[in-house]
Amino acid sequence: MSYFTIAGSMILLVTLGACGSGSSGSGSSGIKEIAVDPMKNRGIGPVDSITLGTFSPEMAEAGKAIYEEKCTACHKPTENYLGPAPKGILERRTPEWVMNMILNPTEMIKNDPIAKALLAEFNNYPMTNQNLTEEEARMVLEYFRSL
Ligand code: HEC
Repeated sequence: MSYFTIAGSMILLVTLGACGSGSSGSGSSGIKEIAVDPMKNRGIGPVDSITLGTFSPEMAEAGKAIYEEKCTACHKPTENYLGPAPKGILERRTPEWVMNMILNPTEMIKNDPIAKALLAEFNNYPMTNQNLTEEEARMVLEYFRSL
């Protein structure tokens, strides 16, 4: 009888495993190590949902000025420095995630799986909160679209 119990639970494990890798991020199967899909992760912070719309050169210009004042101590636009290069960021992150990383980095690097991995990749050097308003962060995001 115990043989059948073991065989039964093995089948159950296999089924759960297959299920876990297929349904990214549902978190309901009880399996801890589910990879996060970066294009679905919105991060943790004030921004739930934004629509990008048509690219605005004026907004990007304003965002560039903010970026040069508050971000270039640690970031270069197109190559990694103390932090990662923002070029092409919307191909690997959702706009909401980017906004939340700008507005709420301290909590993000503590609790968001992607930001935590970035922290480890960038020598555990933490991004500091530059206290941008949501509007300013949105302008910087527009600038990132131009890179
Ligand atoms: C004190 C250095 C520092 C400053 C200043 C800083 N950052 Fe960062 N940033 C980092 C580091 C380091 C990381 C990688 C995560 C970590 O290690 O905390 C990062 C990560 C990011 C990411 C995620 C990049 C990716 O590839 O996913 C974005 C977006 C970002 N920063 C935007 C900004 C913006 C915008 C500003 C200015 C308002 C800024 N940062 C100011 C150090 C900094």
